[in-house]
Amino acid sequence: MRILGLESSCDETAAAIVEDGRTVRADVVASQNEVHARYGGVVPELASRAHILNVVPVVQAALERADTTLDEVDAIAVTHAPGLVGALLVGLQTAKALAWVTGKPLVGVHHLEGHLSAVYLEPDPPPMPHLALIVSGGHTSLVRVNGHGDVVELGATRDDAAGEAFDKGAKLLGLGYPGGVVIDRLAKTGDPRAVAFPKAMASSSTGSDFSFSGLKTALLHHVRAHGVPDGQALADLCASYQAAIVEVLVRKTRRAARQEGLAHVQVCGGVAANSALRAGLQHAAAEDGFTLYVPSPARCTDNAAMIAAAGYHRLVRGERAGLDLDAIPSAPLPRRG
Ligand code: KG4
Ligand code: ZN
Repeated sequence: MRILGLESSCDETAAAIVEDGRTVRADVVASQNEVHARYGGVVPELASRAHILNVVPVVQAALERADTTLDEVDAIAVTHAPGLVGALLVGLQTAKALAWVTGKPLVGVHHLEGHLSAVYLEPDPPPMPHLALIVSGGHTSLVRVNGHGDVVELGATRDDAAGEAFDKGAKLLGLGYPGGVVIDRLAKTGDPRAVAFPKAMASSSTGSDFSFSGLKTALLHHVRAHGVPDGQALADLCASYQAAIVEVLVRKTRRAARQEGLAHVQVCGGVAANSALRAGLQHAAAEDGFTLYVPSPARCTDNAAMIAAAGYHRLVRGERAGLDLDAIPSAPLPRRG
């Protein structure tokens, strides 16, 4: 089954052609990083406008790269929740128009279900059940994945998401957006033990929940007291800040895998591209004896191939959306079906 996937929930306009939820024929992403960089975060109005400009060219490029036509597409999958409503609406309306004129089936996909499906585009995906750490700009949670579209949330952040902690930290340090990428790069030459940051809610009494807003405040206090450093001191500060985020994520993931008795663990979402997190989880996997599955870095951040992959499983189960499919800005990960 050849699926056209569309994604526009935040600041990437993306279209992809994926076969049977596994084989990527085309994966096109128009990033808006340059649009939002000077503001240190996503400006919703600007995101919607950029999606409007990009969405049709991105769909055309995906069809061209896959050497296919709309006629040869079997179905259309689109992110309809959660996200910035004005951004979601652009992809959703485009998908509806395409479904209407072609008569092809349409299916709505939850963005996080998309992130969970990205690893199924890799040659060696995890078996079910497995544990998933979802770390993106808007979400941080640990979920038990029993099957496609069948998940149980074990814990989530009580305030900022891990990606938000990276982005807000980078903004404080004047490093631009998206902050995770810059901090990741600068941290490579820094000493993660240089500055002691709080490891919020690291203790087992807080279960699988996370909290990152205190860390951002600690960085603010540090900057107020010492100013924004440069050179080696900036690298050290970035490495220490990153280590505080990564340590808590790794610790809670290990504990959840043990408690749930799961020997297969995946990490997904934009922050899963972080080199320290990937290395930390790999190290934990070797020590604890679980197998780690990570999408390629480009499939950690937002893309439409993961949406097509998630949509495939919904379509196979017989799900079809009507042309009244709505955009939902805030929606929990669907538990089943
Ligand atoms: O999944 P994603 O592309 O969009 C959302 O669904 O939110 O995640 C974006 C987030 C941003 O906060 C960005 O700073 C973070 O992922 N990110 C990273 C890295 N690459 C992207 N964070 C840490 N290290 C990276 N290499
Ligand atoms: Zn995302």
